[in-house]
Amino acid sequence: MELKLIRGGVRELNRTSSGEPYPRFEVRPSTPVIGAELRGVDLAAELDDELRAELRRALLEFKVIFFRDQEITSTRQLEIARIWGEPEANPFFPTGDEVRISRLAKDGQMFGMENVWHSDHSFLAKPARGAVLRAAEVPDNAGDTMWADMAAAYDNLPEDVQALIDGLEAEHDWISTWGRILPDDKRDALREELPTVVHPVVKVHPGTGRRTLYVNEPFTDRILGLPEAEGQALLEYLRLQARVPEYQVRFRWAPGSVAIWDNWAVQHYAINDYYPSRRVMERVAILRVTAGTDHHSDHRAVRNIRRRSPRSPAAGRLRGRFRMRRQPHAVWDSARTAAGSQRSSGEDSRDAVYWSYISHGSRSPGGR
Ligand code: SIN
Repeated sequence: MELKLIRGGVRELNRTSSGEPYPRFEVRPSTPVIGAELRGVDLAAELDDELRAELRRALLEFKVIFFRDQEITSTRQLEIARIWGEPEANPFFPTGDEVRISRLAKDGQMFGMENVWHSDHSFLAKPARGAVLRAAEVPDNAGDTMWADMAAAYDNLPEDVQALIDGLEAEHDWISTWGRILPDDKRDALREELPTVVHPVVKVHPGTGRRTLYVNEPFTDRILGLPEAEGQALLEYLRLQARVPEYQVRFRWAPGSVAIWDNWAVQHYAINDYYPSRRVMERVAILRVTAGTDHHSDHRAVRNIRRRSPRSPAAGRLRGRFRMRRQPHAVWDSARTAAGSQRSSGEDSRDAVYWSYISHGSRSPGGR
């Protein structure tokens, strides 16, 4: 079998719907599989139980839901997040009015680095359930965000690749990204709190039952149970699946726009085509929800990695077939280099400012 990252032809595009209508708002699907704008909801007003249940259902079906012209404060944004679960702090982002609000303010001094396909907090043992993102200041005709449906990505993998990866696990870590731009002492201190974690390569989403590809470019470092080179080649092939346009939706922000996404179902990418204009977003990450529906219970923090053999006969058949080369994390390397040069020479640069921003940003001791 020949594996090709991008192949032409028909894609299998399934959206999982409960079949129930949404009487409390109008739904405008953005694509066949992912994204919908919900009209007729005022997020600033009291949201009763029925409306909350519909919003939860809509998020499961569309994976990312959009709202326009909302006038909400950061405090209200935290309350909206609680429709799904408790807000949680990000260990690395600078904060807004309170520690669980990440304020992503970009301009000529501070450039956006979230333009890589990723899943929030996959480097944690209990990755975020979702997020609520609000546009505070947006550049003209730029600064869109994209999301990719990782169940669609899984569905379209060749069957023997699916069989191979269904039983595999991968290491996730922040060291090769955030770790490159933190000063050594801060990185080492944080390491104690945030060790390498292992997650299944394919996760079954508890709300939809869909098998979902769960590896991402910045934070998934290694597939366990395969020889190193083959594991890296397979990992690269899987990480790049988020780039297939048929799995994606792209959203144009305006002041008052809000997006809420299911971080267990999608990856996202913040397009950085607005530099040096200003773009300010506030993000609240949502911690996992009710016990018993937690598909992350199979996540565990690991310090000593146990190597496993591939569990499927397909794994043997595919051995030696993955020969893609892993790309270095260029942006993080350049930030690290610039941070180092600023520390030694006092020279200013965009990258160095970013390093400074992280090293002085507040964070919650409970931010996991
Ligand atoms: C992020 O959560 O990666 C940021 C998304 C954005 O700023 O559009």
